[in-house]
Amino acid sequence: MRIRTVVFPVAGLGTRFLPATKVLPKEMLPLIDRPLIQYAVDEALDAGCDTLVFVTNRYKHAIADYFDKAYELENKLEAAGKHELLSLIRDILPEGVRAIFVTQPEALGLGHAVLCAKPVVGNQPFAIMLADDMIWNRGPGALRQMIEIAERDHASVIAVEDVPREHTNRYGIVSSEPIDDRLSRVRGLVEKPKPDQAPSTLGVVGRYVLDGSIFEHLETTQVGSGGEIQLTDGIASLMRNKPVLAYRFKGRRFDCGNRLGMVQATVHLALEDAELHAPVVELMRERLSRE
Ligand code: G1P
Repeated sequence: MRIRTVVFPVAGLGTRFLPATKVLPKEMLPLIDRPLIQYAVDEALDAGCDTLVFVTNRYKHAIADYFDKAYELENKLEAAGKHELLSLIRDILPEGVRAIFVTQPEALGLGHAVLCAKPVVGNQPFAIMLADDMIWNRGPGALRQMIEIAERDHASVIAVEDVPREHTNRYGIVSSEPIDDRLSRVRGLVEKPKPDQAPSTLGVVGRYVLDGSIFEHLETTQVGSGGEIQLTDGIASLMRNKPVLAYRFKGRRFDCGNRLGMVQATVHLALEDAELHAPVVELMRERLSRE
């Protein structure tokens, strides 16, 4: 079955970016001129997804507004003959792509947020993307790589990368048996273990392609790390019945859930941009010569 549905849990509070996130959802913070969520959506579109399910809360109207049609603005740009700007806002979501919004009434954790999408997703394989993890790749996006494997191997696939041992308490950590350079079979999964208790340093990154039966597992998942219902625990349960693969994706991931990652991603994107590259290099040269 082709995987076309992707869930974006976007109900987090974004406290690391206060005061900006007092009024602006963190997914709407821009990397240069596009909100963080747009990078994730583009990666989903590149992967062939056409049903985008956003799990939001009552403070996140800006995300629904962003993906909605802006008739007034479009009319004005049209009348002014500003066709480039017009296509910029029209292309936010191409024709034939549906955006569906469901709410998570209470912040009970990532696993619970995903479970809120069950009535929309049903019992079919689907993807989950955490917009905080921005993954840049010159070739096919990380999600496209993962969906290809999930469809080929009829398995769930979670994205992983090596993380420093002192950071294992920031990630879901996987223990697995290698299949090849990039792929391994998941044998165990634990949410945010302390460095001295982590079974490995293979960290889960915010991309998942999961069998539809994950919802049954999430329904019985108990409160875990941080007092929340964890997606990691749901997947650890799924793994007992269905194959789950860990995949080292091709691409560079930026953790835009914190300030440093946001700066790194911004600098990286600026250096990839034809117009910004030279002036940014110039600024850095000038600034570094005074260090
Ligand atoms: C979530 C997941 C964690 C995963 C991480 C990736 O944690 O619970 O397993 O490794 O995303 O970014 P969060 O960053 O929301 O605390």
